[in-house]
Amino acid sequence: MRAYDIIAKKRDGGTLTREELEFLFNGYVDGSIPDYQMSAFTMAVFFQGMNHEETAMLTKIMLDSGDKIDLSSIPGTKVDKHSTGGVGDKTTLVVAPLVAAAGVPVAKMSGRGLGHTGGTIDKLSAIPGLRVELEIDEFLQQVREVGLAVVGQTGNLVPADKKLYALRDVTATVNSLPLIASSIMSKKLASGADKIVLDVKVGSGAFMKNVDQAFELARAMVAIGSDMGRETVAVITNMDQPLGNAVGNALEVREAIEVLKGRGPADLRAVCLELGAWMLRLGGKVEDAARGKEMLTELIETGKGLAKLGEMIAAQGGDTKVLENPDLLPQAERVLTLLADQAGTISRLHAEKVGLAAMVAGAGRSRKEDDIDLAAGVILKAKPGQAVDRGQVLAEVYTGHEQKGKAALEILKEAYSFGDYREQPLIYGTVTKNGDNRYR
Ligand code: URA
Repeated sequence: MRAYDIIAKKRDGGTLTREELEFLFNGYVDGSIPDYQMSAFTMAVFFQGMNHEETAMLTKIMLDSGDKIDLSSIPGTKVDKHSTGGVGDKTTLVVAPLVAAAGVPVAKMSGRGLGHTGGTIDKLSAIPGLRVELEIDEFLQQVREVGLAVVGQTGNLVPADKKLYALRDVTATVNSLPLIASSIMSKKLASGADKIVLDVKVGSGAFMKNVDQAFELARAMVAIGSDMGRETVAVITNMDQPLGNAVGNALEVREAIEVLKGRGPADLRAVCLELGAWMLRLGGKVEDAARGKEMLTELIETGKGLAKLGEMIAAQGGDTKVLENPDLLPQAERVLTLLADQAGTISRLHAEKVGLAAMVAGAGRSRKEDDIDLAAGVILKAKPGQAVDRGQVLAEVYTGHEQKGKAALEILKEAYSFGDYREQPLIYGTVTKNGDNRYR
């Protein structure tokens, strides 16, 4: 077998066999297939796609490239949650403690942010003292004792994805449906949960820019999960504008705490309730998602979700006083404001640009090895649909450096559009093993 022939077959629209995929991907991981051949291959997949069988086989090959976490020592049905990535997406910080407080164990491995999207592990790192790198035994013990742990990836999970994702990132081939589906699902399957809830984001701040594509990606991932015996549900949610008002690590932790206290932005709360309700449904705690939302609402009102977050923070060595006094989170030295240069209604707020502005302010990385400023980011004071006066504050930039702050303001200014406003759905629908359910 030769890599050349496999690349040419895919380039010409052919369907690959398991043997061909194994040859290529196992060879890539062991170093016998060079980056340049894999680059050509991923570009061929970008244009020609893969059918369901190919995508499922690729997922399995990637899954088998490394370790798998065994969660069987934790009693109960373990339900994982994963977002395809967005701006201001701090749902894990809200949903994971709420679902754990309802009695469904959550053993979650999360990633760091890259580019304009944030990562849960960076957000958690903003809590003073909190450790995100736990040994696997410690991780499992914490879930058994507390019912909840959110940590960075431990062990050698899916090395094929680690290598391939880095290559896709620099060859403009991230945005390929079968490659995204196999990348996400191989990691979710390796993390060991019994059931999986996916938050598939759609819009300017997401990989999927239109709703039909997002449903297609969701169907692909739900089918892979089901084929592998792990029931998977996908919720398709809006990422055309940022979720909530805070973008940036410490700022997002503060906003998540607000939601757990029964306050906070309505859009963030609604997406959290939807995702959490499906986790409870898959975890066998409720008959349907509507009852799940009621249960989660009670857990917010009684403070039990917040208390569960506190237990997790304590178990991971963090300072739980941040829950009562969020000023203990890292604070930016400077706050710059963006003022409206016209009166009118905000028609759009481009999520990717807001994410870039936060990143430029210091909240994100453009390269894996970059340091981040945990206090940096953006607070949105006005969002689409809102009428503002000239000179009104649209947003604040939090930063440690005046120059970075000014650069962020420039990008942020471009993110706002004025004119006719058309409301978009916050949640487009779900995909389950029984098919699509479009909410409108
Ligand atoms: N997130 C992933 O983990 N992989 C992708 O390919 C895209 C988003």
